[in-house]
Amino acid sequence: MSIWSDAAISIWAQNMNGFLNFLREKIKGYPIGLLFRLEFESLLFGIGSAIPTTVGVFFRAFLCKVFFKKCGGLCWVQPRVTIIHTERLKVGRNFGVNSESYINAIGEIEIGNFVLIGNGVTISSGMHPVDGHFPEVFARQSIPKKITIEDDVWIGAGAVIMPGVTLARGTVIGANSIVNKNTEPYSVNVGAPARLLRYR
Ligand SMILES: CC(C)(COP(=O)(O)OP(=O)(O)OC[C@H]1O[C@@H](n2cnc3c(N)ncnc32)[C@H](O)[C@@H]1OP(=O)(O)O)[C@@H](O)C(=O)NCCC(=O)NCCS
Repeated sequence: MSIWSDAAISIWAQNMNGFLNFLREKIKGYPIGLLFRLEFESLLFGIGSAIPTTVGVFFRAFLCKVFFKKCGGLCWVQPRVTIIHTERLKVGRNFGVNSESYINAIGEIEIGNFVLIGNGVTISSGMHPVDGHFPEVFARQSIPKKITIEDDVWIGAGAVIMPGVTLARGTVIGANSIVNKNTEPYSVNVGAPARLLRYR
């Protein structure tokens, strides 16, 4: 029997229709210029993230300078980092981020000077509304929640910085911590959820 039976085609068409509705919902309210910008950003950062060696470091630093809303100096971005919504991302001088980290500035992210982000860190400034059953969470628009990271912050490997959080000047976040509250200046915070361990 061919896989292209009437039933298979009908299921495929329903899935495709559902997927197109999902995409339509996702881009609702986005001006066409921004959609093109996001596509272009995705293409260049995607290519850039795959380039090893110092050539890759300089190429990504160039992309940051061109795309970020503000970029105070040269960024040091390791391969395989995902950065989305660069038009809402501001960084200061001496910004470094390690491989496999994910930065989504949908709700704006502002980063100060001398900030180091470890590998596998998630910093995402949007969240889906969770209350109620319909429509499914999957299909809901993100609520923007700005994340602020002040000067002299170090975020350990695997940490998650939740939407809306401010990491005060001098903050250190331990590996694998989940930060859902603002931190105090020059504090060391660990755990899930992160708690104050001590001051530096
Ligand atoms: C947060 C950090 C800097 C703290 O270092 P420290 O001040 O030397 O802390 P200690 O090792 O003395 O640990 C103090 C306490 O915190 C706990 N702790 C330390 N790091 C922790 C973490 N990431 N998560 C949970 N608890 C942690 C320790 O278990 C210890 O608890 P105890 O007193 O009950 O035994 C360090 O543990 C860390 O996570 N560094 C990140 C390393 C990293 O990610 N490197 C790669 C990215 S560049």
